[in-house]
Amino acid sequence: MAGEWVKVGPEGEVAEGEMNSFGAGDRMVAIANVDGDLHAFDDVCTHQGCSLAEGELDGTTVECPCHGSQFDLTTGEVIGGPATESVDVYQLRVEGGEVQVLINEQ
Ligand code: FES
Repeated sequence: MAGEWVKVGPEGEVAEGEMNSFGAGDRMVAIANVDGDLHAFDDVCTHQGCSLAEGELDGTTVECPCHGSQFDLTTGEVIGGPATESVDVYQLRVEGGEVQVLINEQ
C-alpha cells in the first residue's frame, strides 16, 4: 500500500524517556523517546480515546492516563486492559533534522 511521509516536528523535540503528541495530517501521532530511539504510534487510546502521550512511559510500555490500559509501543499490542484493540504504530525517519512518519492511506 502506498504511504506518505508526513512531517511531525523537529528532531530533539522529545527528550529521552518522554512522549509528545503531534499533528500529522488529520491525525494525532505520539512520539516517544526510549533511550534515544524514537517510536511513533497513534495518540488515541483504543479504549475511549484518551491521549496516550499524556500517560506514563516505562521502557517500551505506554500506560493510558485514563483507565490504565498498557500498550507495547514497538508493536502497538495491548499488554493490559481495559483496551482490547492494539494501537497503530508508524514507521519513522529523520530527514534534515525533522521527524517524519509514514502514513498509509486507509
Ligand atoms: S481511554 Fe485509555 S484506558 Fe480508557
